[in-house]
Amino acid sequence: MKHKIFYFTGTGNSLWAARVLGSSLQDSEIIPILNPSMEGLKDSETVGVVFPVYMHRIPYLVADFLKTLPELDYLYAVAVNAGDTGQAFSYFNKQLSTTLNGLKTGFSIVTPSNYLPFGEAVTGEKRERLLNTAKAKLGRVSKIIRERKSFFDREDGFFKKNIVPGMLYSAGYKFLKSLDKKFYADDSCTSCGICEKVCPVGNITRPEGRPVWHNNCQMCFACINLCPESSIQYGKKTPGMKRYRNPEVSVDDIINQRN
Ligand SMILES: Cc1cc2nc3c(=O)[nH]c(=O)nc-3n(C[C@H](O)[C@H](O)[C@H](O)COP(=O)(O)O)c2cc1C
Repeated sequence: MKHKIFYFTGTGNSLWAARVLGSSLQDSEIIPILNPSMEGLKDSETVGVVFPVYMHRIPYLVADFLKTLPELDYLYAVAVNAGDTGQAFSYFNKQLSTTLNGLKTGFSIVTPSNYLPFGEAVTGEKRERLLNTAKAKLGRVSKIIRERKSFFDREDGFFKKNIVPGMLYSAGYKFLKSLDKKFYADDSCTSCGICEKVCPVGNITRPEGRPVWHNNCQMCFACINLCPESSIQYGKKTPGMKRYRNPEVSVDDIINQRN
């Protein structure tokens, strides 16, 4: 394959973006970061990494994956986000080995948010509008990738304009893995076990049927968004809020990124 695209997703947007990009590039292979095949990587014309932005940065498991990348001819990052990539590209860059010589290309793809504490999921026309805009941008991005150009973009958005200070994110990111303390299952939990299956890192067990979180969280928000009964909550705000999943990605697709 000419083009290899690695992805990690919590609620489907990044997998969807990887698929859209892959079909536009053609001759491409989409590979889960949770089960990465590095075969033929050095011979690929382009290698991309598609990931969700968390707290202006990158998921920890994506950072760990980046450390394993060999020297490559053309590497690009696709930061899937809800309006502000913050320092995601520089964090990405910091993980790369010196032989990789740094990231020279990074794209921001704005999608609906899965971070419920800042508001419930958008639906209907608003969701479609956001995804259509993202799709059109991915088409333009594929041209840049095919030509192997250097390019960076950043988007100003809600987070920057609305004073959520960078310091808060810096502090939060450090403790990200234990921010799962605020998750709980309410009385509507049927012990179906989907939360355990969608967790990308085995951070959820169900000793008595209901989920228990073990402070090794990636904060992907898959468990809370994909629970079929909306029984998982995060703090006080989320009861009654609409959940998010990319409409073109199934729960099974998300579970299967582990296999
Ligand atoms: C813990 C957490 C932190 C987030 N931080 C940011 C952020 O700093 N900037 C942003 O634009 N979106 C942020 N988001 C939103 C996600 O990046 C966005 O919804 C993305 O599309 C999710 O991708 P996925 O569906 O592939 O998991 C955050 C989401 C979560 C769960």
